[in-house]
Amino acid sequence: MTAKILDGNAIAKAARNEMAKIVTARSAQGLRPPGLAVILVGDDMASGIYVKHKRRDCEELGFHSNVQHLSSNVTQEDLEERVITLNNDPSIDGILVQLPLPAHIDSGRIIDCIDPAKDVDGFHPYNIGRLALRRPTIRSCTPKGIMLLLEHTGVELRGLDATIIGASNHVGRPMGLELLLAGCTVTTAHKFSRDIEGSVVTADLVVSAVGKPGLVPGSWIKPGAIVVDIGITRDDNGKLRGDVVFDEACERASWITPVPGGVGPMTRVAMLQNTLDAAPRLPDE
Ligand code: GUN
Repeated sequence: MTAKILDGNAIAKAARNEMAKIVTARSAQGLRPPGLAVILVGDDMASGIYVKHKRRDCEELGFHSNVQHLSSNVTQEDLEERVITLNNDPSIDGILVQLPLPAHIDSGRIIDCIDPAKDVDGFHPYNIGRLALRRPTIRSCTPKGIMLLLEHTGVELRGLDATIIGASNHVGRPMGLELLLAGCTVTTAHKFSRDIEGSVVTADLVVSAVGKPGLVPGSWIKPGAIVVDIGITRDDNGKLRGDVVFDEACERASWITPVPGGVGPMTRVAMLQNTLDAAPRLPDE
């Protein structure tokens, strides 16, 4: 079998075109553009690039953006106050605090300060809790983007055995909740798991979110399985690599995401969709 490619770039592009049309239609109805605020702390290069992309995405789609770049010396109190000010800013629908934050900042408490209705990352305990209770509100971006990708396979997810590798708060755990909600039997493997291979070889759907190139060899993939690779690591030659050995896995999987160009563009799109959905639909709201 040669796997079909889940082309995140193409699917994301179509979703962005749809969103741009909605923003134009909103404007014709007298609605203001959706507004996204991004707080970037310090000079981490990767974070700086991500934030630049977010600003560019907003420009392309006609969103209003407010990017605040703060010194790495910012205090917990200052940062919390900034978030609270944005909570009360009627031109802002979505607030995103770029992670990771410096070690002296308690990221959990910062996320707690974001108004759950403006938490377009979908990281707030309220939004994760709602997903856990099968009443989803704003959904975490990477799992949401993956669910959109999976829709494109046309495969019925209900009843599938799904294995997620990685149990982070922002990816692995909400991914498990999404797949459970979709009716999968979910296994989450993590750094204390004794037999990750054993959990993968029987899976109809594998989602790897570790950041360790080569972690999942093709021989682990059940013939016909769907493979989603969230890992993205730059190797010594500057090449971006996923967790899954792509060429090997292609021989066995039915569908597979490439790295890059699979999950990454979908995460960006999901955050923009969350911002658009958070914007009021009536002129005076
Ligand atoms: N850092 C890397 N990815 C993300 C993301 O999706 N959201 C936030 N807030 N920080 C990040």
